[in-house]
Amino acid sequence: MAPSGHYAACAILLLGILARASTNEPQASPRVYLTFQELDSTGTSRHFLPWLNTSDFRILRMDKDYDRVYVGARDYILSLHLHDLNRDPLIIHWPATQQSRTECVLSGKDFYSECGNFIRVIEPWNRTHLYACGTGAYNPICTHISRAGRQQSAQQLPVPQMRGRRSSRAAKPREAFDQSQLQEYILHLEPGQGHSGKGKCSYDPKLSSVSTLINGELYAGVYVDFMGTDAAIFRTPGTHTHTTMRTDQYNSRWLNEPTFVHVHLIRDSAERNDDKLYFFFREKDSDTGHSPTTQARIARICLNDDGGHCCLVNKWSTFLKARLLCSVPGADGIDTHFDELQAVYIQPTQDTKNPVIYAVFTMSGSVFKGSAVCVYSMMDVRMVFNGPFAHKDGPGHQRAPYTGKIPYPRPGTCPGGTFTPSMRSTKDYPDDVISFMRGHTSMWGSVRPVHQRPLLLRTGVDYQLTTIAVETVAAADGTYQVLYLGTDKGTVQKVIVLPRDDLQTEELLLEEVEVFRVPAPVTSMRISSKRQQLYVASAVGVAQLALQRCGAYGEACADCCLARDPHCAWDGHTCSRYSAAHKRRSRRQDVKYGNPIRQCRGQNSHSNRKTVEVLQYGVEGSNTFLECQARSPHASIRWHLHPDSSDRRREVRSDGRVLRTDEGLLLRSLQPSDAGLYVCSSTEKGFKHMLLRVRLLVLNSQALGAALVDSGRPAPWSPSAGQYKELLSILSQPEMGLINQYCQDYWQEGEGPRGGAKELREQKKPRNRRHHEEEEGESPHRQHHQGEESPHRQHHQGEESPHRQHHQGEESPHRQRHQGEESHHRRHLQGEGSHHYPHQPGWGSDPPHQRGRGSHPPHHSLESHDGQQAETET
Ligand SMILES: *[C@@H]1O[C@H](CO)[C@@H](O)[C@H](O)[C@H]1NC(C)=O
Ligand SMILES: *[C@@H]1O[C@H](CO)[C@@H](O)[C@H](O)[C@H]1NC(C)=O
Repeated sequence: MAPSGHYAACAILLLGILARASTNEPQASPRVYLTFQELDSTGTSRHFLPWLNTSDFRILRMDKDYDRVYVGARDYILSLHLHDLNRDPLIIHWPATQQSRTECVLSGKDFYSECGNFIRVIEPWNRTHLYACGTGAYNPICTHISRAGRQQSAQQLPVPQMRGRRSSRAAKPREAFDQSQLQEYILHLEPGQGHSGKGKCSYDPKLSSVSTLINGELYAGVYVDFMGTDAAIFRTPGTHTHTTMRTDQYNSRWLNEPTFVHVHLIRDSAERNDDKLYFFFREKDSDTGHSPTTQARIARICLNDDGGHCCLVNKWSTFLKARLLCSVPGADGIDTHFDELQAVYIQPTQDTKNPVIYAVFTMSGSVFKGSAVCVYSMMDVRMVFNGPFAHKDGPGHQRAPYTGKIPYPRPGTCPGGTFTPSMRSTKDYPDDVISFMRGHTSMWGSVRPVHQRPLLLRTGVDYQLTTIAVETVAAADGTYQVLYLGTDKGTVQKVIVLPRDDLQTEELLLEEVEVFRVPAPVTSMRISSKRQQLYVASAVGVAQLALQRCGAYGEACADCCLARDPHCAWDGHTCSRYSAAHKRRSRRQDVKYGNPIRQCRGQNSHSNRKTVEVLQYGVEGSNTFLECQARSPHASIRWHLHPDSSDRRREVRSDGRVLRTDEGLLLRSLQPSDAGLYVCSSTEKGFKHMLLRVRLLVLNSQALGAALVDSGRPAPWSPSAGQYKELLSILSQPEMGLINQYCQDYWQEGEGPRGGAKELREQKKPRNRRHHEEEEGESPHRQHHQGEESPHRQHHQGEESPHRQHHQGEESPHRQRHQGEESHHRRHLQGEGSHHYPHQPGWGSDPPHQRGRGSHPPHHSLESHDGQQAETET
């Protein structure tokens, strides 16, 4: 028996147990998890590569006219191609002035994290220009920027090779990228062209800003002063006659240390005078006295509000706010509230007056940490704003619903609207309306979520949700809302929630992918259904992500069916993108039930036949590990042993010597009777899938002794004793003692070359290992396809005994398996991605426009207040 074989066995065993030791299955586990490298190797994501000296990517603004997405970061505005972020980028360097930076530093602020020009506003100005603002080193500045930039050149920005494991291991893009080539793409904004951004952008980059430009006027939720104490909803006068408008200054009844999250224009009727602007934020609750808590708010103003004439001059006279509730009823009758609003996504529907509001909340109490997504209807929002006002007589009094006479027109009504056609301006409102408004800015009722509870929850996990985008997808069995959720660990989750009987729902976490190499919170996302792309920003970068990776679900019809991704269907050969436009009978898809037995009849038989037999050796009295892991966390694994070639079999269960782990089967102190064919199969939703057939040969120790004397050749797979120790130090299981001893002995037999060290290091990351394993489940198929190297064949060709093979220095089966993986990855690198994802929206062509019923053309082609957006401003 070759030492190499043992080394491999040891390492696999160690890593298997290592993975198990750190597998802490979270409450909601994705059916498919892709690490950054795995995602990269699918070819379905792209990162904006040039390594600019910047950070804090945050603002994403889509421009459908020019096929661009504008990105705001520290000192930079990027104009990137929607199709490929690296195609012909326009990079605008817009630092704060030298004087501002100096003053900022002198006032005690941090040079890097505070004294940059953190871009917070990018809005469409006119057909040719954008309007942009930044914090300007604690001295907010705004400017106009040409939309398309310079003449479009056909040139492609040189892209360093960073696709796939191999190259990403070899060279960091930072080194590979030639900075001098980048220089031509950077456009410097003339200093002095800008003007003050006071009231449009906060001074402190850590304080939130939200804004929208409507009819040439910028509406912003910002902190207006240097100290960051004067929060306001502010309107800067624009080209029209409107005056500067704001919320009452230093009045905590209006705004109480708010964190602005989102702003969106929502129509009330066909009458434009009724148009209202909705602000979403969280703030301190001023009513809970000594221990102020945070609450989420939805507030609104009329676009045509010009303030009062007696009082509230230049202040909103239609400002009203209400609490946005997102809570889970507790068993004891006490609700658990999620109050920290993080992100809002307004999903358009065919009825422009009634978009659907999706909101992400978090909670970080001492006991409980978690996130929730709640959904609100505009009908419920309007009901609360049309309901009773909240009233408080004095500081000592309880808040109560206002029961007195309400003046006419009802406070909060827009002038010139459906109910007030005769009033041209809020300045025409009677004094009692204005003074009522001044004392009553809050509604008594709270806006409750649809079905009175969250759509989904994340509790007991080590991350929180930060962002959301929603897409309506038409599948074979219905229309689904697909949620994309960004997390604070840099991943994006793809989720659908299915209705079940009795208002129950079933959440399917279809996929989670690591979008960024460095785990950093996702700060904003934009979705393009047309391009089937999601644009994702974080502190460290910006990336684009295809909305589906059907090929990653597996190679069998059942894999595709069990994935239950509305984007994907089995086309008879592969799991590929489903498009309602290309409805075909042969397409198999079952999102609702994911029942492969019904959907894949006659489609699966070949997948089990493809499972070839691999050979594994064990030495009598030693331990061995048979590796087999389910692809999905929802599958259960069973092992059967066929002791001889007959169909006679028994199920293998854990006993004194045999230990079943999530990663495979550990057989301790092998006996000759352990030999035979081990079959590992997974069952998910009644669908049984054979994952692995391993024929275990048990060698007696005398034969092994002879072999060891003979084997002078270097072992191909041999981590050094030092690396081995390092690995062991991470492990502390008692069961490891035996294995340690066993492996240690073999390393001391002779130190081979360091061939496997890199692999070992790579795989020490447990999660990598785990998902690596998932792929490995497919490797027997692959080997089979590759043909020549199948151990099965070797075995059956049979002229040579395993022993003899070894003497001739043949590769051990373990080694072969590793080669199998390597070649699998290599093929990925060589562009298997395109072969593997034939129905992918190719990078070279646009996918057909496919949008569900929930879409309507935005009234301005540059995404503006009506566009699809979701971002956090924290
Ligand atoms: C990055 O930018 C800062 C100013 O924003 C500058 O001081 C620093 O030298 C830059 N670093 C590099 C590596 O260019
Ligand atoms: C758009 O606005 C910019 C800045 O005010 C101005 O220079 C430009 O001429 C305008 N373009 C059009 C088409 O109105």
